[in-house]
Amino acid sequence: IFSDVELAPADPILGLTDAFKADPRSEKINLGVGIFKDEAGDTPVLASVKQAEAILLAEESSKNYLGIDGVQLYNKVVQELLFGNEHQVLKDKRAVTAQAPGGTGALRIAAEFVVRNTPSRVVWISNPTWANHRSVFETAGLEVKEYAYYDAEQQDLDFSGMLASLADAQPGDLVLLHGCCHNPTGIDLNLSQWQTIADLCFEKSLVPLFDFAYQGFGKGLNEDAAGLRLLAAKVPELLVANSFSKNFGLYNERIGAVTLIADSAETAAVAFSQVKRTIRANYSNPPAHGALIVSTILSRPELRVLWEQELTTMRNRIAEMRTLFVASLKAEGVKQDFSFIERQAGMFSFSGLNKQQVQRLRDEFAVYIVGSGRISVAGMTNANMGAICKAIAAVL
Ligand code: LMR
Repeated sequence: IFSDVELAPADPILGLTDAFKADPRSEKINLGVGIFKDEAGDTPVLASVKQAEAILLAEESSKNYLGIDGVQLYNKVVQELLFGNEHQVLKDKRAVTAQAPGGTGALRIAAEFVVRNTPSRVVWISNPTWANHRSVFETAGLEVKEYAYYDAEQQDLDFSGMLASLADAQPGDLVLLHGCCHNPTGIDLNLSQWQTIADLCFEKSLVPLFDFAYQGFGKGLNEDAAGLRLLAAKVPELLVANSFSKNFGLYNERIGAVTLIADSAETAAVAFSQVKRTIRANYSNPPAHGALIVSTILSRPELRVLWEQELTTMRNRIAEMRTLFVASLKAEGVKQDFSFIERQAGMFSFSGLNKQQVQRLRDEFAVYIVGSGRISVAGMTNANMGAICKAIAAVL
C-alpha cells in the first residue's frame, strides 16, 4: 500500500530549516522560521521558565494523566491573559478554554470541532497568511476562501479590499484574524478598523477565529489584545487559538490553547463537551510540562514580573533590529524606500523581495528567508546585519 505514495513537497517554513541545517557554508544565516534570537544569536530558555521548572521539579508529585482539557489553572490564566480579568465574557462564563498542543493544535481542534458539530464549512483567511493555515483547515474539512489584506504597492493594509472580500461571506462562515503581528506581513488593523470588523461580523453573523501567537511582541500584552477584546465584547460567538511558543520561548513544548465563546454559559458548556470529544479522538489528553510552566509563571507575582520584563526585552530587541535593518540597507546604497519595515510589528517583515531574489539570497549568499519574501527580523543581530544587507543590496 505504500509504494504508490507521492513524495510531499518540503514545508515552506520548516523545510527551510532542514535545508539550512544541511547547508555546509559556515557564513549561513537563517531568517526563515520565526524564532527569537538574542544578540549572541542564541534562543535561550527564559530565566522565568527556568525558575518555574525548578519549582516544578521540586514540587511535582505525579505524572498521572491530565483531564482531556488539560491543566485547570492553566486554562484560567490563559483566559485572563487573553481578555484581561474584567472582561464581560469571563464574568458571564461564556468562555471555555482547553489546553492544546501549540497554536497549530488549537487551530486544528477549533476547525475540526466546527466541521463535526456545526453547519459551518467555510473559513476566510487573509491573502497572504501563515503558510500552514490552508493546510490545517483543509485537513480538518473546511473550505478555504481568501480575503484581500496586503496592498503591495503601498506596502500597507488593503482595508477596503478586505471589506470588499468579506462582503461575500455568508452567515456562519469563520473569519481567521491574526490577533496581532500579522504573519507574514507585520501589518495590523488599528482600533477603528477592528471596530469595523467587529460590526461586520456582528451584522453578517460571521464567526471570528483568532490566531493569536504573538501577544506581547507588538506593543504590549494588553495593547496587542485590544482587537480580540473588542470583538469578544461585540459578537455572540468567537474562537481563539493562542500559542506560547514565542512569548514564553516554549517552542518545543508545544503549548497553546483553544478558547470558545458562546452566546450563553449553557451553550458554551455544551459546546465544550464536543471540543473535549474532538481532543479525545485526536490525542486523548495533552502533555503537562508546558502548561505547568505557563501557569506557574502567570500565577506567581514575582515570576510574572520577571517574565514580563523578559518579554519587553525581546520586543524591544526586535524593534531595534527593524531600525538597524532599515538604516543598514540605506548604508549599503539601497535606493528603494524600506522605511515601511519600521512600521511593521512582530517578528516578521514582508520585504517585497520576489521568488528569484529569495532564491539568489540562498544560493549566492547563504541567507535563508521564506519564499514569500518574509524575513524573520527576530533572527537578525548586530553581528549578522551587515552580511544580510549586503546580500539584499546585491540581489535587488
Ligand atoms: C513561523 O511562521 O515561522 C512559525 O509560526 C513557525 C511555524 O510553525 O511555521
